[in-house]
Amino acid sequence: MELKSFLDTAVRAAKAAGKLQRERLWSDITIEFKGEINLVTEVDRACEELIVGMLREQYPDHDILAEENDYASLHSNYKWVIDPLDGTTNYAHGFPWFAVSIALEIDGEVQLGVICHPMLDELFTVVKGAGAFLNGRPIHVSQRQPLKNSLLATGFPYDIATDPENNFGHFRNMHLAARGIRRAGAAALDLAYVAAGRLDGFWEAKLKPWDVAAGSLLVMEAGGTVTGYAGEGYSIYNHRIVASNGAIHDEMLGVLQGRG
Ligand code: IPD
Ligand code: CA
Ligand code: CA
Repeated sequence: MELKSFLDTAVRAAKAAGKLQRERLWSDITIEFKGEINLVTEVDRACEELIVGMLREQYPDHDILAEENDYASLHSNYKWVIDPLDGTTNYAHGFPWFAVSIALEIDGEVQLGVICHPMLDELFTVVKGAGAFLNGRPIHVSQRQPLKNSLLATGFPYDIATDPENNFGHFRNMHLAARGIRRAGAAALDLAYVAAGRLDGFWEAKLKPWDVAAGSLLVMEAGGTVTGYAGEGYSIYNHRIVASNGAIHDEMLGVLQGRG
């Protein structure tokens, strides 16, 4: 019951931020640089302010982990993990593929999540043990296999030019092993799409907890598998993620480990 009311609050906050994103897309917005290719827009910041404000109003004692600001720890058992705008590069260029991602961790475990895709009016919700949903209807991972018949997604880190762990090698090998790969630019949506059976698998390195908190729980609750690259148990603080329908998971791990 308590989880349900947390979820309701998260849904309201995600929809409010999604609405703002839709309204401001293709308008004149200020863009700043966090790194050479790592952007932040005034809409990222406004959405974070909106979401954190709504959560703080209801739950002033809860901790917040969000992308655009540091929030002092209140030493709560409850921590909201927030990506106010996933897909910032897309947003800044007017490429309409981005999302809001909000999850709640209780005692160190993600218990619920919401991903709002405002341009398609799609809302993915999940509560641990109670399944994954798209606009209120249950969703499931695909059953597609083997890997050569599968459609995958991935992404590349912002320090692609300076760190050899840039995913180029894996991208090449996985492309040769699968039917196709999409790099749409919003990890939360990549994961939501694996959960909904629209993609069969996803992998990426160097994601942050806010990129994956809601999405990884969605995949698991939709019947999929989420691990690290060595097949180890997954935590949102892991450096690397592989999420799939389960049926192609070992084959994906094989490619990432150079066995494929
Ligand atoms: C990014 C997106 C992208 C992924 C990047 C993330 P942001 O998040 O999820 O798909 O490849 O690594 O950082 O910066 O748009 O919130
Ligand atoms: Ca992100
Ligand atoms: Ca973001």
